[in-house]
Amino acid sequence: MKEPVPAELAIETHGLVKRFGHRSAVDGIDLSVPRGSVFGFLGPNGSGKTTTIRVLLGLASANSGEVRVLGKPMPAALATVLPDVGALVEGPGFYPFLSGTGNLMRLDSADRHALSSTRRQRVHDALERVGLSHAAGKKVRAYSLGMKQRLGLANAMLRPRELLVLDEPTNGLDPQGTREVRGLVRSLAAGGTTVFVSSHLLAEVEQMCTHVGVMSAGRLVAQGPLEELRAAGQAHVVVQTPDVERAAGVLTRLGLVPGEAPGTGSAWGSTALLGTGLNGLEPEKIVAALVAEGVRVRGFTVENARFVSLTGEGFDVVG
Ligand SMILES: Nc1ncnc2c1ncn2[C@@H]1O[C@H](COP(=O)(O)OP(=O)(O)OP(=O)(O)O)[C@@H](O)[C@H]1O
Ligand SMILES: [Mg+2]
Repeated sequence: MKEPVPAELAIETHGLVKRFGHRSAVDGIDLSVPRGSVFGFLGPNGSGKTTTIRVLLGLASANSGEVRVLGKPMPAALATVLPDVGALVEGPGFYPFLSGTGNLMRLDSADRHALSSTRRQRVHDALERVGLSHAAGKKVRAYSLGMKQRLGLANAMLRPRELLVLDEPTNGLDPQGTREVRGLVRSLAAGGTTVFVSSHLLAEVEQMCTHVGVMSAGRLVAQGPLEELRAAGQAHVVVQTPDVERAAGVLTRLGLVPGEAPGTGSAWGSTALLGTGLNGLEPEKIVAALVAEGVRVRGFTVENARFVSLTGEGFDVVG
């Protein structure tokens, strides 16, 4: 019998630090991943996502901090926790001379928690779910990067899991494959699996996640339900104006909190003013109010405090 696990959090870290030499790749992060969530672990290249994931899975050891996965301390409870965790981490090791089916059969038989009587069927089903049935008998050395990525996903799904940890699962996939993976993640979550998925694309995270954690240079600069972060993300307007006092007065009357905008304004020979929060106002109403009060508005932008809305690929962490 499994002992009952605390209900709320699937992953929890406190002050997690992982250093390489004297550089901290992960610099004291406190992660809270609710059970049942699809948690998008967002961050640009080199921000520490893979390193964090490797520590969570016991593939690397932390320098300090605490980690709990499915309510149990890691790495102490590694052996009891890992059977409930499916993982896809950078570069899954497959035998090139075996087929997709052959590789999964082999990996599943190495898993002493997996039932051998259902193995063939489970392998078949997993390959089907990731859209690899047509290539099931093909040797993996003839697989494309996207196909290997799908095979890695199939491997993570060979058995029902409580938690799936997927490191950039859409890496190497074309737009169609990316859509399929997103759909897959959503269907897994609908089945009750918690999914922790890393990505460097905000747009992608927005489409499949309920929660987000944003990494920047080894630090977790924001985390929470996507909706909350979105709301918090519409957090300030920047006004370029020579009439700072007057603008501050208008912003205050509108219920915004004026402050000084860092590092802006000189190009206009004016000072920039930061209005924190939009107080539910449409940006154009704020501009109209400023202008109506005689404020010379030379520039006006709406920016997110934590993450900037996407216009293309990639994203910018400001927090
Ligand atoms: N084994 C290692 N030895 C030394 N430095 C490492 C090692 N692994 C990672 N790093 C460094 O730690 C930092 C975080 O790397 P990590 O791979 O965790 O980032 P990431 O967010 O997964 O990036 P990407 O989006 O490129 O996958 C980087 O500066 C990287 O160079
Ligand atoms: Mg990575």
